[in-house]
Amino acid sequence: MNIRSVIAALLTAGVVALAQAAEPVVIKFSHVVADDTPKGKGAAKFKELAEKYTGGAVKVEIYANSTLYKDKEEMEALQLGAVQMIAPSLAKFGPLGVRTFEVFDLPYIFDNAEQLHKVTTGELGKKMFASLEPKGIRGLAFWDNGFKSFSANKPLNAPADFRGLKMRIQSSKVLEAQMRALGALPQVMAFSEVYQALQTGVVDGTENPHSNLYTQKMYEVQKNITVSDHGYLGYAVITNKRFWDGLEPTLREQLEKAMAEATAYANGIAKEENEKALEAVRASGKSEIHVLSPEERAALKKALLPVHEEMASRIGKETIEAVYRETGFDPSKQ
Ligand code: LMR
Repeated sequence: MNIRSVIAALLTAGVVALAQAAEPVVIKFSHVVADDTPKGKGAAKFKELAEKYTGGAVKVEIYANSTLYKDKEEMEALQLGAVQMIAPSLAKFGPLGVRTFEVFDLPYIFDNAEQLHKVTTGELGKKMFASLEPKGIRGLAFWDNGFKSFSANKPLNAPADFRGLKMRIQSSKVLEAQMRALGALPQVMAFSEVYQALQTGVVDGTENPHSNLYTQKMYEVQKNITVSDHGYLGYAVITNKRFWDGLEPTLREQLEKAMAEATAYANGIAKEENEKALEAVRASGKSEIHVLSPEERAALKKALLPVHEEMASRIGKETIEAVYRETGFDPSKQ
């Protein structure tokens, strides 16, 4: 090779390297809910901030409403690196083999989001994220949705009202035990299939925070909604560990800053989004909304609390007790 062709080859290599450097890093962020929900809005905020802080070196593509993957598939896609970010509900981590996450599904373990945040921002939250690492997953943040209501085509005011009903649940053994404690028949089903299953009577009822009941139009095919606040539904935003570790450090820091701010934003709007959704359902007149009285709530709680004990060997007694310590929950005083 003469000197000219060496220079030409070097120049070509340089141009290719420059072109590659100019290509933005793409983060495909897949999720199963509507854009107009706490998670949907959190994802949009992350996109806005990530693209801003990296000066366009990162491009975030959001795929909402299960358009790319459904619940179970998105977890696999993340591990395979087909998407770089997802935010499954905490109830969907059990099948990965990280059972501690199922503590969040225990009925009536949290009275409010403040108690929940003590857990997610404390030692337990860190430990949970550490347990994801061997699965090739890096935990980035916990995002709120809110407390769940029950729905069906009949009033669900007392535990006996649930007997024999087919109730759709997320893929969690704790939620399965919760429905069985009420004499209902739990049916695990992907979120994207729930509306149709309710409409066609494949299942009789379900549970979800109001933002999901509203944006998926479940209220249009459920005559009754019971505001029971019996359990919490929130998310862990997770990324493919190999992808994240492979990012250039400055870029990663910018993305961490974007995620921290998107998290504050998402958690700041979640409660209000759910309140607005409930009002919208009420205004539609399609579903009758019943808020449990203190006595009804006490009866439901009494029927559901044995699930804590029943699930202790699965979730880990230490994990449940650690949550009790953080929140001040005393099982003997219930
Ligand atoms: C559900 O499957 O009901 C929820 O986890 C959906 C979601 O992501 O909020």
